Amino acid sequence: MDITEQYPEHIPVLRDAFIDAMFSDPDGSYLDCTFGRGGHSRLLLERLSDKGKLIAFDRDPEAITEGKRLEQQDVRFTIFHSDFAQIASVLEQEKCDKVIGIGFDLGVSSPQVDNAERGFSFRKDGPLDMRMDSESGQPLSRMLDHVSERELVDILHNFGDERYARRIASGILKAKHNKELNTTSDLENICFHAVPKQARYGSTHPATRTFQALRIWVNGEMDQIDTAIEAAITLLAPGGKLAVISFHSGEDRRIRDLIESAVRPCTCPPEMPMCVCGKKPSMRWLQKKPVRANEQELLENPRSRSSMLRVAQRLTDEEAIKLAGYSGGLH
Ligand SMILES: C[S@@+](CC[C@H](N)C(=O)[O-])C[C@H]1O[C@@H](n2cnc3c(N)ncnc32)[C@H](O)[C@@H]1O
Repeated sequence: MDITEQYPEHIPVLRDAFIDAMFSDPDGSYLDCTFGRGGHSRLLLERLSDKGKLIAFDRDPEAITEGKRLEQQDVRFTIFHSDFAQIASVLEQEKCDKVIGIGFDLGVSSPQVDNAERGFSFRKDGPLDMRMDSESGQPLSRMLDHVSERELVDILHNFGDERYARRIASGILKAKHNKELNTTSDLENICFHAVPKQARYGSTHPATRTFQALRIWVNGEMDQIDTAIEAAITLLAPGGKLAVISFHSGEDRRIRDLIESAVRPCTCPPEMPMCVCGKKPSMRWLQKKPVRANEQELLENPRSRSSMLRVAQRLTDEEAIKLAGYSGGLH
């Protein structure tokens, strides 16, 4: 059954572009590092032969329940309840050392956002939680107990590009101190009143960036990305492909830079006429610019509006030697 029949609200973002980017060999082994409700996983399984294999990860127990159901229906599929920073150790335990395609569809899933109890949405009243893995770590309410105003400003700046970070951080900590910050609606209200009047009714709700930044902080998302992308590059077989969907520019920049340092690892100063550090590239870009949703997809799936897909390929040893010292990468 098609994923959209089971979850009518859930259409995987960049569905064909993402699967085309990851897929090459029907007999190969693949990783879906962000199973969600399995939209992309199911599409990939449709392309695999009986010999193909797909290993998936998610840190959300509800995603795992759905993944276990799929595991029972399809012997080619295995899911792990784990954050994706652990992909290298899980694959080692599974004695699966090389894979031919790895995909990440970052951020939160629609079921996570739609469930008020998870605390991800400023449009629904719920607890201040925001953990993707509701069985571990600390909810937002507890994390806010230990954060300084300076740190909170940095979080809102760095993870949300929030222009009014100072005003919002001060509003949050004042309300917390006065015991007036208990729910997502309280948080939404603080953001709304913290920004200047002219910024309250624009196309983006004033709480959007704050909710995004706090979610990234609560889940340690940037550190997860750093570890996982580096691991993914080493886990790919020569010719294997890496596909990463992200939803905001900070995340996309991080991914671009991580892949770029595998495409262009040379650390020689730019004034050197040729490379002397001898570091060899391990990846090549398959698309220099991020792939975006086309008009049709934007109509069918508004969630794809801000999605950006980066695609790169692991070099063979011969290609790496040929390209060593090459200094033209992505600019
Ligand atoms: C955008 S959804 C993926 C949707 C999925 N591609 C689909 O078609 O159903 C992102 C999923 O990744 C999971 N996730 C996000 N960060 C993670 C991490 N560091 N480790 C494991 N899972 C993560 C979330 O729990 C969520 O279920």
